[in-house]
Amino acid sequence: AEVIIVKDEAEAGAIYGRCVADLIKAKPDAVLGLATGSSPLAAYRALAGIVEAESIDVSQVRGFALDEYLGLPLTHPESYHATIHRTVVEPLGLDPAKVHVPGDILEGAPLSDGERIAGAGPAYDAAIEAAGGIDVQILGIGTDGHVGFNEPGSSLASGTRVKTLTEQTRIDNARFFDDDLAQVPTHCITQGIGTILKARHLVLLAFGAGKAEAVAETVEGGVSAFCPASALQLHPHATIIVDEAAASRLR
Ligand code: F6R
Repeated sequence: AEVIIVKDEAEAGAIYGRCVADLIKAKPDAVLGLATGSSPLAAYRALAGIVEAESIDVSQVRGFALDEYLGLPLTHPESYHATIHRTVVEPLGLDPAKVHVPGDILEGAPLSDGERIAGAGPAYDAAIEAAGGIDVQILGIGTDGHVGFNEPGSSLASGTRVKTLTEQTRIDNARFFDDDLAQVPTHCITQGIGTILKARHLVLLAFGAGKAEAVAETVEGGVSAFCPASALQLHPHATIIVDEAAASRLR
């Protein structure tokens, strides 16, 4: 992977924004892979700024989010459906009907809950494939090396599927649920590592000293399910953009 060390999130965001804006100019129905969390926010802001300044037509752009909680209604403010709408769809002016989170694909289908849960992953991967694949997938990284909700131990060949959230991830995310662990969902649907590796370009963003260990493991450790992000080493076009603090454990 190519590693770019930047001074701050704004500089990282500008690199992503320029890259994706140029992509959309060349391919108006580009397919963007989207992530929630704090790492991509400056990148979305930068892209929205360029789209506005250069009057780029984004009406055909399509999007697929990395992951979604299971058991929260899409309308819940902390669902990733709602989060992606707030942080990406609205600021960029995308067509909401063209942006998906895992699980919404089978929304309204005449299925039992069990069928819906079992079918959601394969249906999502099929929808990404039918769209021609993801052009640029933005990624954050967990302090334990997770990408999407693929926690350590996840198969590097996995497709989109239902996973149990680890206790640590539920504790980390309780801040979005009034610090009440009981309100944090216990399960999720996440793109698998195999799904993520199919995107044509991966852009992983990491900032702050808390990510330094995971970044070093991702870039310089062996490829291992114990650090799911290390699978990026297998990808022919992965860009890892980090600030000095997140780069501080690289040799
Ligand atoms: C978000 C996601 C997660 C985050 C990761 C980092 O959709 O799948 O893997 O990217 O937990 O989160 P932040 O950016 O908030 O540090």
